[in-house]
Amino acid sequence: MAKKQKKINLGVVGACGRGGSFKSACDALETVCVWAVCDTNEKDLAAAATRLGATEQYTDYDTMLAQSKLDAVIIGTPMPFHVPQAIAALKRNIGVLSEVPAGISLDECQDLVRACRTSKGIYMMAENYTYMRPNAIVREIAARGLLGTPYYAEGEYIHELKGLNEITRWRRTWQTGINGITYGTHSLGPILQWMPGDRVVEVCCRGSGHHYKDPRGDFYENEESCVMLGKMARGGLVKIRVDMLSDRPHSMTNYQIQGTDGAYESARAEGEANRIWLRSKNPSPDRWMNLADLGDEFVPEAWKKGMELAQKAGHGGGDFFEVLDFVDALQGRRPAPIGIDEAMDMTLPGLVSQQSIIRDGEWMTVPDSRDWR
Ligand SMILES: NC(=O)c1ccc[n+]([C@@H]2O[C@H](COP(=O)([O-])OP(=O)(O)OC[C@H]3O[C@@H](n4cnc5c(N)ncnc54)[C@H](O)[C@@H]3O)[C@@H](O)[C@H]2O)c1
Repeated sequence: MAKKQKKINLGVVGACGRGGSFKSACDALETVCVWAVCDTNEKDLAAAATRLGATEQYTDYDTMLAQSKLDAVIIGTPMPFHVPQAIAALKRNIGVLSEVPAGISLDECQDLVRACRTSKGIYMMAENYTYMRPNAIVREIAARGLLGTPYYAEGEYIHELKGLNEITRWRRTWQTGINGITYGTHSLGPILQWMPGDRVVEVCCRGSGHHYKDPRGDFYENEESCVMLGKMARGGLVKIRVDMLSDRPHSMTNYQIQGTDGAYESARAEGEANRIWLRSKNPSPDRWMNLADLGDEFVPEAWKKGMELAQKAGHGGGDFFEVLDFVDALQGRRPAPIGIDEAMDMTLPGLVSQQSIIRDGEWMTVPDSRDWR
């Protein structure tokens, strides 16, 4: 008889905010248990503990790591805490599923990479846009070589959050208080998975100027629409636009990719279809197909098996499969799909873009974390 694996005890930090959104995925998986929650928000902590079914609650993260019996933590705190909290867990060989981006500076990213290299704890970045169903289907199509050689891609994250800035004040510093691509992994993450084995080696970045002021009458340091061009190691080009300030409806999941044998464009407007052209399906490039029509053929195998469970949990979307991948990595079944080097491939171009924009769009080299030992 197969030996039953013990439950993975999870600690969720930032449990009153984003951390709480991992609840349904954790509920759906019998192999995990949210054992402890942590948040500096004392007022709402008990409610978060009840919602997540946690046995223990902490207002101090280091105390949770020291006192609780945790196998892994989910980090859902504001951006500047991701690296210090991940390193503190890794030093205790506790696994980490960290919110995006992985870090806020090149220096701290180096520290994180080094901590990962010496820890027995598994690190994974929770880039959930790579788990959106259309993005996972395109990844599978690309993995089977049906796009041919991919050589151009675009991603856009357009999400007006001037109001949210005033509630979650850290955003005013870390997302709209720095010029350049401060929140680019949702756009770049899926694209990098569609160009397997490739990475951004150089970036340049320019912005569209300053047109809005915060409630105190100050311009945002981040220009409204920042565009980063990235040169790929294999010669291709990617374009990433992030805009968190312009008044307009949201549009956070715009993607395109072009390969020698296929092209994909996500829907831009309600009612439109995500459309794809594949030479293997239609040799003459004159007609798009609806990506949804290829879903049964190309949805990843793990998704087919897990869909019933995900749907039973009332959660048919990607968060379930993201946590499933993390658990599989923790239990040694498969490497984390967004381990430390993939997390750096998604995070570092944005950090370097913040230096490029200061230098009027100068092309700058993006370090390869695989060189950081
Ligand atoms: N992947 C996604 O789709 C997605 C969506 C939203 C936010 N995020 C990311 O999640 C993170 C949190 O965003 P949010 O919108 O939930 O922010 P938030 O401010 O609403 O929530 C963060 C929570 O962390 C708590 N916190 C702050 N410092 C802490 C500390 N040192 N120790 C313990 N708890 C602490 C706060 O009290 C708060 O409850 C950010 O990094 C953001 O980029 C990702």
